[in-house]
Amino acid sequence: MLVLFLLAVAFVSQTEARYTADWTSLDARPLPSWYDEAKVGIFIHWGVFSVPGFGSEWFWWHWQGQQPPDKKCVDYMAKNYPPKFSYPDFAPRFHAQFFNPEDWADIFKASGAKYVVLTAKHHEGFTNWHSPNSWNWNSVDTGPHRDLVGDLGDAVRNRSLHYGLYNSLYEWFHPLYLNDKKNEFKSQDFVMHKLLPELYNMVVRYRPEVIWSDGDWEAPDTYWNSTEFLAWLYNDSPVKDTVVTNDRWGQGCACKHGGYYNCEDKYTPGQLPKHKWEKCTSVDTFSWGYRRNMKINELMNMSSIIGDLVRTVALGGNYLLNVGPTPDGMIPAVFEERLRGVGAWLGINGEAIYASKPWRVQTENTTVPVWYTSKGSTVYAIIIDKPLKPSLQLLEPKTSSTTKVTLLGVPNALPWSPVKGNVGLNIVLPELPYTPGLAWTLKLDGVQ
Ligand SMILES: *[C@@H]1O[C@H](CO)[C@@H](O)[C@H](O)[C@H]1NC(C)=O
Ligand SMILES: *[C@@H]1O[C@H](CO)[C@@H](O)[C@H](O)[C@H]1NC(C)=O
Ligand SMILES: *[C@@H]1O[C@H](CO)[C@@H](O)[C@H](O)[C@H]1NC(C)=O
Ligand SMILES: *[C@@H]1O[C@H](CO)[C@@H](O)[C@H](O)[C@H]1NC(C)=O
Repeated sequence: MLVLFLLAVAFVSQTEARYTADWTSLDARPLPSWYDEAKVGIFIHWGVFSVPGFGSEWFWWHWQGQQPPDKKCVDYMAKNYPPKFSYPDFAPRFHAQFFNPEDWADIFKASGAKYVVLTAKHHEGFTNWHSPNSWNWNSVDTGPHRDLVGDLGDAVRNRSLHYGLYNSLYEWFHPLYLNDKKNEFKSQDFVMHKLLPELYNMVVRYRPEVIWSDGDWEAPDTYWNSTEFLAWLYNDSPVKDTVVTNDRWGQGCACKHGGYYNCEDKYTPGQLPKHKWEKCTSVDTFSWGYRRNMKINELMNMSSIIGDLVRTVALGGNYLLNVGPTPDGMIPAVFEERLRGVGAWLGINGEAIYASKPWRVQTENTTVPVWYTSKGSTVYAIIIDKPLKPSLQLLEPKTSSTTKVTLLGVPNALPWSPVKGNVGLNIVLPELPYTPGLAWTLKLDGVQ
């Protein structure tokens, strides 16, 4: 009886270990395991900025924030809009009249992604949900008159994908923020009366499993109350056991504090980082939000997307690929084609990606560039964007009497011979029943 009681006490105290509002405690939280296993996510930048669709989602800042303003944006507005037209006048034109969350979720599912992250609020401050702290500057009071965050969340979760929300801490033109900034962030009126009530509300309402924080860089984490928020998130929020966060929680936090690390946009490390990380990148290389004047040669093509994904996963990262929907609520067909292409590739090669771990060697260049991943005692050698040659050499794996080589998508084992002793393999490639495109995967069992 006493033993049982002590066990019960030990169990309770372990499950109720609480995080304190400091980085030492918060950074020690283990990352919920779903995130590393997921590997691939879809990022969506959607908001009022999608209406001008000019330059990027930073249009408002480039037009009326930065000094001097961007001449291209000023000229564009002068030429195409009436003289008194203001940025908020774009909001009623954010119609989303073709937005069908089920169609979007079908595309995301077909892409092979395991999570989806939507901009709940970008730097312009417009919320894609009915935030009580964003009166008349949200998607229910104006524009689409619809809870975009909630509607997409239902459809995404219905397909067993994880749902995350992007949230900008700062807002370019919020009067309380500008005033705190003028006070060199010694006052916290924006944080207490706008940011935090809204953020707590958003988490309780939508239960996001990723909080993709951004817009932190002008002020320290103590201004944003980041550690207090995260302690609540990890201890007491409705998503405390499954939520993951990134590292944008105040000046100096990137690549140092938080959950997984984004470091910087499109971060591309040269070798295996010590901490779990994510590469976010965008099919449109010029913008995260929709651009009406995008051209095909400004977009990532299929082979560069797959190559980037493979390299990211081999280096221990997750790959978050962004698309910008139109203000009408459509995912441009060219983005849909890319996403379905990623899914087609993962349909054959996903075994080497999902729930994989970095191998002891991440890459080698022998006959072709190769990226490695592993799962248990299986090693995957992924070859990017090269035509098949009749034979191929891998120098890093050490072979044994049980070594077996297969090509994902082809049932029969491939013949191979050692390069030297038990080091390396010469692999004879077969006549294939399909044309390998973009990248293809050799599965190596019984190697070290
Ligand atoms: C998705 O929705 C359908 C129809 O409402 C329902 O039957 C199904 O259980 C849902 N699936 C998940 C995973 O929520
Ligand atoms: C913000 O942090 C301060 C301490 O730095 C704390 O007293 C206050 O309760 C926090 N507020 C919220 C809403 O987290
Ligand atoms: C894809 O894009 C990359 C990078 O811009 C380029 O080097 C490559 O030639 C392109 N491939 C095709 C098939 O167009
Ligand atoms: C492989 O070759 C590429 C292109 O020549 C080079 O950039 C890269 O550093 C090489 N990688 C290794 C591990 O040698």
